[in-house]
Amino acid sequence: MAKSFSDDIVLNNGVSMPVHGFGAYKIIDENELRNSLETAVDAGYRLFDTATFYRNEASIGQFFQSAGLKRDEFFVTTKVWNTDQGYDKTQKAFENSLKKLQLDQIDLYLVHWPKQETFFETWKALEKLYDEGLIRAIGVSNFEAHHLDRLSTKANVLPAVDQIETHPYFPNHLLHDYLEKLHIAHQAWSPLGRGPVLEENELKKIGQRYNKTAAQVVLRWHIQNQVAIIPKSENPKRIRENADIYDFELTREEMIVINNLNRGERVSNAPDVIYVRTEPEN
Ligand code: A2P
Repeated sequence: MAKSFSDDIVLNNGVSMPVHGFGAYKIIDENELRNSLETAVDAGYRLFDTATFYRNEASIGQFFQSAGLKRDEFFVTTKVWNTDQGYDKTQKAFENSLKKLQLDQIDLYLVHWPKQETFFETWKALEKLYDEGLIRAIGVSNFEAHHLDRLSTKANVLPAVDQIETHPYFPNHLLHDYLEKLHIAHQAWSPLGRGPVLEENELKKIGQRYNKTAAQVVLRWHIQNQVAIIPKSENPKRIRENADIYDFELTREEMIVINNLNRGERVSNAPDVIYVRTEPEN
C-alpha cells in the first residue's frame, strides 16, 4: 500500500508508476487546464492522465514545455481512441499524440476501450511502439476478465495496467482480484464516482473522525485496497485536498462500511455495450 503521495508502484515490466495521479478528463478550457496543472504540479502530482478523446493533449504538451520540469519528473498516460484503432491507424494516432504532447516517449499508452473488430491489431501496434522504445509501458482501459483472456491468446507483451471504472458504487472487486492474479496494475478511473457518492452519510461520518472530507475517505479507501487513482478536479482547493490522504488510516470496519456502499452501479456503460458505439462517454 502506498505510504505517501510520492509512492510508486512497480509495474510488471519493471517501470515505476506513481500510484496517485491527476486525471485531466473533460478539462477542455485551456486556462482552466493550465491553472489545474499548475496547482497539481505545485501540490506534488507527478502522473497526468489524458486521452486523445479528452481533446486536451496539445494544451498539456504546451504546459509541460513551460513548466520547467525534467522529463523524469512527470509521468504521462494517454490512450488510443476507438475510431483510431487498428494496426496502422493506432500508430498514426500515437504519432499525433506524441506531437501534441511534445514528447519523445509516452510513459503509459492504453487502449481506451476493448473494440471487437480491431482487438488484436491495435495491441500489436502498441507492442511494436513499445519494442521501439517509444512507450515505457503499454496497457488497456475498460478491459474485463474475458477481454484480458482473449488478449493473452495472442499477446507477446501482457498489459501492465488496466484502467477501469472503480468507486464505492462500483468497486469492481472481482476484476481487481483477477488483475492481481495476472500482475496487472489496477488503476481506477472516476475514483470519486464523478461526485454523487460523496453525499453518502457513512462517508461523511467516517471523514469527521479524521477531519477529512468524504472525497478524501474514498481516495484513502482505494489506496488501502491497492488501487492506483487519478482523481479529476478543476478546483485548486480540491486538487490539493485530493492529495492529502496519507496521514490517516481507515479501520477494517470502515473499509467494510465503504465496501457495502456497492450498488453495482456504473457512471458509464459497460465495456461490451459501449465499444460498439462511436462516441462513448469516457
Ligand atoms: P471539480 O472538477 O469541480 O472539483 P472523478 O475523478 O471520480 O471522475 O470525479 C470528478 C468529479 O468529482 C468532478 O465533478 C470534480 O469536480 C469532483 N471532485 C473532485 N474532487 C473532489 C473533492 N475533493 N470533493 C468534491 N468533489 C470533487
